[in-house]
Amino acid sequence: MPHEVRGVVASRQGEPVSIQPIIVPDPGPGEVLVDVQACGVCHTDLHYKQGGISDDYPFLLGHEAAGTVSAVGDGVTEVSPGAFVVLNWRAVCGTCRACLRGRPQYCFATKNAAQKMTLTDGTELSPALGIGAFADKTLVAAGQCTPVSSAADPAAVGLLGCGVMAGLGAALITGAVAPGDSVAVFGCGGVGDAAIVGARLAGATTVVAVDLDDRKLEWARGFGATHLVNASKVDPVLAVREATGGFGADVCVEAVGSPKTLEQAFFARDLAGTVVQVGVPTPQMRMPDLAMIDFFGRGGALKPSWYGDCLPSRDFPALVDMYLQGRLPLDDFVSERIGLEDVEEAFAKMSRGDVLRSVVII
Ligand SMILES: NC(=O)c1ccc[n+]([C@@H]2O[C@H](COP(=O)([O-])OP(=O)(O)OC[C@H]3O[C@@H](n4cnc5c(N)ncnc54)[C@H](O)[C@@H]3O)[C@@H](O)[C@H]2O)c1
Ligand SMILES: [Zn+2]
Ligand SMILES: [Zn+2]
Repeated sequence: MPHEVRGVVASRQGEPVSIQPIIVPDPGPGEVLVDVQACGVCHTDLHYKQGGISDDYPFLLGHEAAGTVSAVGDGVTEVSPGAFVVLNWRAVCGTCRACLRGRPQYCFATKNAAQKMTLTDGTELSPALGIGAFADKTLVAAGQCTPVSSAADPAAVGLLGCGVMAGLGAALITGAVAPGDSVAVFGCGGVGDAAIVGARLAGATTVVAVDLDDRKLEWARGFGATHLVNASKVDPVLAVREATGGFGADVCVEAVGSPKTLEQAFFARDLAGTVVQVGVPTPQMRMPDLAMIDFFGRGGALKPSWYGDCLPSRDFPALVDMYLQGRLPLDDFVSERIGLEDVEEAFAKMSRGDVLRSVVII
């Protein structure tokens, strides 16, 4: 029997989100019904609401979530009812060329639930990143559920489902930060601060935080930044060079999603350094107008980082264990716990820079 529950829906570009009754089907083959316990408000939800990802309104927002498996469809062996899971948006297929080559983190055919969640009039919803977890229940593909230790706080570990994993992976996996490296992070929201934590875990000795907001920079210091740069007051490229003995950083992580910060990250890098772009651009944005000789002459690498190149089945349980051992400060990313009715206000707080993560508790 389908379930009628509450969901946070973005109906049209420019309109505030609203709570609406939504219909969530029972799980079909390969699908899992999840009782959502907590879901963080990520900047990507705001991108969806504003039309920065696609025009497929109405969107069911929310995608940084943890919850309990309520029911499973035929053929599901990955999880059973009662399991505590973190949801992910890259459930790998196991059969595409990338998967078969042993590089499933680059899977080209990731899975979502086949059945659609709808409004009560039957209008199909587009769930954010194939999840849609600002809702009492959501329907996902079995591979989107990663079981983790149930001792963990859902509000904290749900954040691994998107922004925090993206930032950690940008430093640890895509950027492959090594002991003694210098790292600069442009944009110190939830994603950028997670990149700072990742850089410290990997042994970086200089970690430069770049933002426009002094409050954000102070929080970045709390996560392990060794140098703070307010890019509204000083040239961040020169400031990163200054903090790194005049060289530039070995790894620059762009965690804003803008051509300007991508260009700054490009030039704030040491020769042969790496730029990791984890910030999400809008479809209208164009690459910075760079001389090709700068691209060639500076060497190194420019790497986009989807989800921090993580593999949820490999990375989530290990990171949750590190969190439970006190080695990963996930609690510090939770600025406030809110209700489903507070998501619109949470977007305003995010835009003002008042929070790192507002987490909806359901
Ligand atoms: N690649 C992925 O898999 C992935 C996953 C999650 C989020 N994201 C993206 O990462 C980006 C950051 O997400 P978030 O949730 O941390 O957002 P956020 O809004 O919390 O943080 C963005 C930060 O960038 C700062 N900023 C804005 N303009 C700046 C500039 N010119 N220079 C320096 N700092 C500037 C803001 O002050 C803010 O602190 C977004 O684009 C989001 O969509 C990507
Ligand atoms: Zn695949
Ligand atoms: Zn996200």
